[in-house]
Amino acid sequence: MTKTVSFITENFDKYDPNSIDSYLNINGFTAVRKAITTLSSGEIINIAKSATIKGRGGAAYDTGRKWGQAAAVQGDNKVVICNADEGEPCTFKDRSILSKDPFRLIEGMIIAGYTVGAQNGYIYLREEYRHLKSLIKNAIKETMEKGFLGKNILGTNFSFHIHLHSGAGAYVCGEGSTLIESIEGKSGRPRIKPPYIKECGLFQLPTLVNNVETLAAVTAFIQNGTDDYIKYGTKLSPGTKIISLAGNVNKPGTYEIPFGITLREIIYDIGGGVVDNNKLKLCQLGGASGTIGSDSILDTPYTYEDLEKVGLIVGSGGILVVDDRTRVIDFVKSIQDFFIHESCGKCTPCREGNRQIAKIIDRFVQGTSGVNDLDTAERFANIMKNCSFCGLGETAQNVLLSAIKIFPDEFKRLEAVGK
Ligand SMILES: Cc1cc2nc3c(=O)[nH]c(=O)nc-3n(C[C@H](O)[C@H](O)[C@H](O)COP(=O)(O)O)c2cc1C
Ligand code: SF4
Repeated sequence: MTKTVSFITENFDKYDPNSIDSYLNINGFTAVRKAITTLSSGEIINIAKSATIKGRGGAAYDTGRKWGQAAAVQGDNKVVICNADEGEPCTFKDRSILSKDPFRLIEGMIIAGYTVGAQNGYIYLREEYRHLKSLIKNAIKETMEKGFLGKNILGTNFSFHIHLHSGAGAYVCGEGSTLIESIEGKSGRPRIKPPYIKECGLFQLPTLVNNVETLAAVTAFIQNGTDDYIKYGTKLSPGTKIISLAGNVNKPGTYEIPFGITLREIIYDIGGGVVDNNKLKLCQLGGASGTIGSDSILDTPYTYEDLEKVGLIVGSGGILVVDDRTRVIDFVKSIQDFFIHESCGKCTPCREGNRQIAKIIDRFVQGTSGVNDLDTAERFANIMKNCSFCGLGETAQNVLLSAIKIFPDEFKRLEAVGK
């Protein structure tokens, strides 16, 4: 029995993403037509609420609630931003949507714009996805030509335009306020809050930021109804999730799965198991900012609540499999190197904390660690978690802190080598 499903991804490989006619042939733009000609903003918000979908960018904020708040903000000029930055290592599910079903995403943006009362939408595409630019630009152009974008869409009073903006390749620009700074032409550093983006975002206008998968999912809800979605999953985590499975696994890729199947089913049944039948050492969930688990968590159901119980997160939907050829400390070092490179330098805990922790990790790697190194690294990591200015610094040490907790013997062994 197949463990994957196809609800958000139902259009994958069913049409030519370069052609709106091909999309219309599979009932494309049914959702936009239904939303803006038959549904009110409040009804769409209720549909999103009934699907209980949590934002798929990583923070897992309730989408129906977020749209309700965005709609309630006063203002006759608002913005919707599609966050297609996807900078989280081991996360490539948005790329699948962008390349295989760009029109479903555009529908989601139009529906979001109509719901919250926005006139303009921006797709913030990560620089590394520049090869998708022409595809997306063409999708926007053809949607405009068919009258689903632009002035008075489908003869209604609703007008909406979509603009494509490319990032410059910084991970921190996936954070909502940093992304906005970047579109405004400033360097990628997060804004102080309040004011919150929903009231004062891009060009000081009320702004809704949503992830690619979230927007594509809403199109699917409007088109197919939410019953077909919530029949999957568990009571507390209904529905499906697109995951990116990567690392030492036989069949890496993006898969849509129902919430509730176990990590073992994901890695061994869907992913074909660990390469060369090696033993699984650890897996990291939710990208580089996520925590890690050992093979003891393999029978944990993939749901928000069950993962939380074992210290893991859904996050971006990344699942990285690492086999026993890799030492835990070497894995931690690779993540640490990433965060040193990506820290924007705005705040001291993250800028200096990352560097100091990296020095200690290097000593562990080389077998030259000092007496208090582990305690110091742990203390600095907790300071970063509690005192950093944005989510990057707050989560950068998740991997180290979880590694120390889960593999204490490995760290003790390395400490002993250094003495
Ligand atoms: C450092 C950092 C990087 C982020 N990168 C992304 C990203 O690449 N894509 C994304 O959708 N959200 C990213 N987020 C989360 C966004 O700030 C925001 O919560 C999300 O885009 C909201 O959309 P959602 O509610 O649909 O999930 C990032 C957050 C942080 C702190
Ligand atoms: S935590 Fe501070 S230094 Fe790190 S990315 Fe955020 S603002 Fe920049």
